[in-house]
Amino acid sequence: KNIGFIFDLDGVIVDTAGYHYLAWKKLADELGIPFDEEANEAFKGVSRKRCLQQLLEMGQLTVSKEQFDAWLISKNEDYLSYIEGMDSSEILPGVMKVLDYLKERDIPMALGSASKNARAILAKVGLTEYFDTVVDGKAVTKAKPDPEVFLIAAEELGADVKSCVVFEDALAGIEAANTAGMVSIGIGHPDILTEADYNFKDFTEIELAFIKELIQKL
Ligand code: G6P
Ligand code: MG
Repeated sequence: KNIGFIFDLDGVIVDTAGYHYLAWKKLADELGIPFDEEANEAFKGVSRKRCLQQLLEMGQLTVSKEQFDAWLISKNEDYLSYIEGMDSSEILPGVMKVLDYLKERDIPMALGSASKNARAILAKVGLTEYFDTVVDGKAVTKAKPDPEVFLIAAEELGADVKSCVVFEDALAGIEAANTAGMVSIGIGHPDILTEADYNFKDFTEIELAFIKELIQKL
């Protein structure tokens, strides 16, 4: 069997989920739309455009195409200002242990992210070399929970779809992995990720023995 490990980026490898939240929160405040971390859960794994649509729906606002595009740009500029200074210190705890374990064993690894900033972030934190392929927001047409992003990743890795593992912090991402028939691992609060095959609060909870067993079972 050809196995593959696929990682979401934001909120799994790096804590950019917090920066996305801050950038959306700033715009929401400007527009007078109530927005908190709970509302932000529905924005995780979701494309920039779709997030803005959701925000405007929450505020019951309809706007011109020009205004919509202008807010998309200002949200991203704000987000970019947060990620500008990122370096490897912002890789989430426990992640390197797992990435190194897989790399040492030549296990094919992919990044599967809805973000158009994914490659830039990987470069900033020095992880580009770890991934055999990067499938990002520029490569997909159908956003999570559609499984497209992970199916492309499996194909590019030459991996059998049912022998792929996906690490995700977003409900939409877990749904995408499950629909693809991949093994889904939820990173985050178990209440949010009830649909995942396995759940961990973060990577520090993942033992290498678990990864080893998983590989054997794929
Ligand atoms: C990730 C994040 C989402 C974000 C999306 C698009 O999936 O979890 O919160 O909206 O990427 O990111 P971008 O960097 O292209 O705005
Ligand atoms: Mg994520």
